[in-house]
Amino acid sequence: MNAPASELARALTADQLWYKDAVIYQLHVKSFFDSNNDGIGDFQGLLSKLDYIADLGVNTLWLLPFYPSPRFDDGYDISDYRNIHPEYGTMADFRKFIAATRRRGLRVITELVINHTSDQHPWFQRARRAKPESVMRNFYVWSDTDQKYLGTRVIFVDAERSNWTWDPVAKAYYWHRFYAHQPDLNFDNPRVVDAVLRVMRFWLDAGVDGLRLDAVPYLVEREGTSNENLPETHTILKRIRAEIDASYPDRMLLAEANQWPEDTKDYFGQGDECHMAFHFPLMPRMYMALGREDRFPITDILRQTPQIPDNCQWAIFLRNHDELTLEMVTDSERDYLWETYASDRRARINLGIRRRLAPLLERDRRRIELMSYLLLSMPGTPVVYYGDEIGMGDNIHLGDRDGVRTPMQWAPDRNGGFSRAEPASLALPAIMDSLYGYETVNVEAQSRDPHSLLHWMRRMLAVRRRHPALGRGALRFLYPKNRKVLAYLRETERYKNLFEQDGQLGWLTSAVSRPAMIENLVAIMTSAPHLFQSHRLWNECRTFVRQANGTAAATGGAHDDLVLAIAIALAGRKAVAGKVARARMEELAELSGAVRQ
Ligand code: GLC
Ligand code: CA
Repeated sequence: MNAPASELARALTADQLWYKDAVIYQLHVKSFFDSNNDGIGDFQGLLSKLDYIADLGVNTLWLLPFYPSPRFDDGYDISDYRNIHPEYGTMADFRKFIAATRRRGLRVITELVINHTSDQHPWFQRARRAKPESVMRNFYVWSDTDQKYLGTRVIFVDAERSNWTWDPVAKAYYWHRFYAHQPDLNFDNPRVVDAVLRVMRFWLDAGVDGLRLDAVPYLVEREGTSNENLPETHTILKRIRAEIDASYPDRMLLAEANQWPEDTKDYFGQGDECHMAFHFPLMPRMYMALGREDRFPITDILRQTPQIPDNCQWAIFLRNHDELTLEMVTDSERDYLWETYASDRRARINLGIRRRLAPLLERDRRRIELMSYLLLSMPGTPVVYYGDEIGMGDNIHLGDRDGVRTPMQWAPDRNGGFSRAEPASLALPAIMDSLYGYETVNVEAQSRDPHSLLHWMRRMLAVRRRHPALGRGALRFLYPKNRKVLAYLRETERYKNLFEQDGQLGWLTSAVSRPAMIENLVAIMTSAPHLFQSHRLWNECRTFVRQANGTAAATGGAHDDLVLAIAIALAGRKAVAGKVARARMEELAELSGAVRQ
C-alpha cells in the first residue's frame, strides 16, 4: 500500500500471468455500501470501502453486473451494455473507481454477459419488429415451432419449462437458455459477434483487467446436439481471445462453464481461449468430503482433472452469488448433499442450494476454517464471496437467489451500517436474525476481536501471499492410510524433489474431519507463521506426531501418517517466526525424522 503509484502501475503491467497469483473478492455493488442513502449500494460507496478490501489481503475484485437492467435476473438481464445502472452511479464514478483501485494495486474483473440480453434491450425490441430473416431480426434465435433443439436441458427448472417462448410481436418463438425475459443472442450472425467485441473493447478501454464470460457454453445452437460446448462456440471464443491477444495482452478471460473437467478443459483451448475457468465439479465435492469425512471426492475429481496449458489457471470457489450448484454430481451425491446441507427444502433451488458458507456449515468455526484452507490451497486462484470473510448468513425466505445477496454487514447500526435509508427501502433487506443478524455478525466488531473470523481470514490471506506455490505450484497428494486425512503438497519447480531431503516445501496443507486433534493439526499447519505460538496446539501436534511414530514403530516404520508429520515439519520451518516457535518446529522435525530412520 505504501509503494508509489507509478511503481504499482508498473508492477501491474509487468506480469501477464497476474491472474495466477490473484486472490479474487467477489461482490455486488448494489449490496456493498450505499453512499447516498437511497438504500442501494453504489460505486461511490464501494470506493469508500476499497481500503477494507485491500486490507483484507485480496488483490482482485470481481464485480457482479452493474449495467442498466430491469434486474429480473439481478443484472444478468442487461438492457444497455455500455453504461452504469443509474442507481449505482455514472461512467464518471466508474472511472474514479478504476483509478482508485489502481492506486491500491487492485485489479478489477467485470462481467461480459453475451449469451443473452434482457428482452428490454433495444436489440431485442428492434429484432422482434424487424422482417423475418433480416439481419436485425437475426440478432436473436427464432423459430416457428417450439419443437426444435429438443435435446437441450432447461437450466432454471424451477422457473421455466421450455427454452422457447412465443413472442406475439414477432409472431415467432425465441430461444433462451435462462429466464424467458433473457433471449439468447444469435452467434451465427456476424453482426452479433462484432457488436459483442465492441462491448468487450469498451470495458477493456475503461480499464478493467479481466472479464468473466457468463454462461459461455451456450453461445451457439445446432440441431441434434445438447447445445452445450459446441465446436462453433469454441470458434467464437478463439475469436474473442485473438482480439485480447492483439490489443490487450495483459487482460484475462474467465469462463463460467458449469461442466465436467474434460469439457471445461476445452475452454482453455490450446491456451488460446480463456485464461481461466471455474472448477465447478470440485466445489460440491469439498462439501461432500467434509460431510462424509472422507477425502475421496476431492482426490477423485482432481485425479480426473486434466492438465491445462501453462498460461491457464483454474478458479476455485466455495460460494458465490448463485446457488451451490449440484449439476456436476451424480443423482445419489446430489441427494446426499441436499439431505446434509439443505434439509430445509426452502434452501433448495433448481439443482442446488441457496445458502452461504457459514449457514451451510452451521456456524461451526472449525469447519469454516477447514473449507477456507481448501479454498486457499487447492490448485488455482481462490474467489472469496463478499461477507463470507465475516461468516455472514443468508435469508432463504427471499425469492430466487436474493437470499445470498443481502447488504454487507459493516456495523451493529441500522441496516448493518450499509445505508442510512429506511430499512424498507433497501434493495434487499439486511439479515436481522439472532444468529447471523448485523448486530451479531459485522465488520466493526470483528475488526476489534483478534480471534474473529475476519482476522483469521486476513492472516490466512497473508500466508497465501507469501507462498507463490499456492498460485502456481503443482499439486501432489500424499495418501495417509486414514482417509479422513487429506494431505497434499503444492510445489513449485524450485522445491520439487526436495521433499526427501532436508529442504523447504513450497507449501503443504491437510484437511481432515472430526477427530479434534487432527483438526487442530490442520490449523497448525496452515497458519505456519503463527505456528506453535499456541501451547495447546503445539501439544496436540506433538501428541499427533508421537502417535504417528508409535504406529510407525508398531508397523515396522512404514506408516503413511509419518510422511505427513515430516512434511508438516518441513513446510513450516522457513515460515516460523520467533524463537519459541522455531524451537518447537525443530523439535517436531526431529521427532518425526528420528522415527523415520
Ligand atoms: C450465470 C449467472 C447467474 C445468472 C445466469 C443467467 O449463471 O451466474 O446468476 O442467473 O448466468 O444470466
Ligand atoms: Ca445509493
